[in-house]
Amino acid sequence: MKKKSLVLLLSLAMVFAFVLSACGGGGESGEDTSGGGDEAAALKVVTEATFAPFEYTEDGNDEIIGFDVDMMNAIAEDQGLTIEWVNMEFDSLIPALESNQGDIICAGMNKLAGDRAEKADFGETYFKSNLMLLVAADSDITGLDAVTSDMKLASQIGTTGGDMVQEMANEGKIAEGVVLNQWTDCYLQLKNGEVQGVIVDKPVGANYLMEHSDIAKFVGEGFGETEEFAFAVKKGNTELLDKLNAGLANIKENGTYDELLEKYKMKSE
Ligand code: ARG
Repeated sequence: MKKKSLVLLLSLAMVFAFVLSACGGGGESGEDTSGGGDEAAALKVVTEATFAPFEYTEDGNDEIIGFDVDMMNAIAEDQGLTIEWVNMEFDSLIPALESNQGDIICAGMNKLAGDRAEKADFGETYFKSNLMLLVAADSDITGLDAVTSDMKLASQIGTTGGDMVQEMANEGKIAEGVVLNQWTDCYLQLKNGEVQGVIVDKPVGANYLMEHSDIAKFVGEGFGETEEFAFAVKKGNTELLDKLNAGLANIKENGTYDELLEKYKMKSE
C-alpha cells in the first residue's frame, strides 16, 4: 500500500513541476521572453571623450560632457529618442557601428575624410573647423611650413590630424608622426618636450589654450580642408538618420544650437 502512495505522490509532483515550467514560473525560463518589455532599449551614442569642448570628462569621473553631448541630448529629446553615451577609442567608432556595438557616432567627426562615408551614413553638418598647429609657448616654429625633418609632431590616432602627421613622416617632412589614443596624451608630450608640435582641430586647441596659454600657442593659419563635423549611423539606417537630421534642424530653428555655441564659446567656421 505504502509503495503505491509513494509512486502516486511522485507522479503528482512531476506533473506539478511540468505545469509550473510550462507556465514560465521560476528559474531562468521565467524571464519574459515575449519581447513585450515596454522599455525601448536606449540608443548607444559612441564617442571619444578627450576632445574638449565637444566631448570630454573632468575631475576624474566617467560622465561625458560637452557641446556634442548637449547637442545630441537636445536632438534626442526633440525626436523622442532615448540615448546613452559610450566612450571608446576614436578609431573604434566606425567599427562599432558596423558591428552593432553602437547606434550613433557623435564625436566631432569630419564626414569628408577618407573612406568614412563609404563605411557609415553621415547626417547634416553641425560644425565646420580647420586643423591648426599647437607648439610650446617658447617655440621658434612659426607655422606648419617651418617644421623641420628632425622634429616630431603628435596627433590622435585615426583622425585627420593623425593621418596628416603620419603622411608628413612618410614623406620625410618630419622625423616621426606620433599618433596617440587620447588628446590629453598629445598635450602632455608637447608639454614634456617629447614632440615639437600637435596638429589639432582649431576649436579643441583653442579650448586647451584657454587654460594653458603659458605653455603652448597656436602658430600659422588653419590648414587642411575645412572639416564638416557630422553624426553618423550604420550604413542604411535611414530612418534614424532622418530623425537626427530633423532634430538638428529643429534645435537650430528654436535657438538651442546657438545657445550651445555660446555656452562653449565656439563659432563654426
Ligand atoms: N575632426 C577630426 C576627425 O574627424 C578629429 C576628431 C576627434 N574626435 C574625438 N572625439 N576624439 O578626424
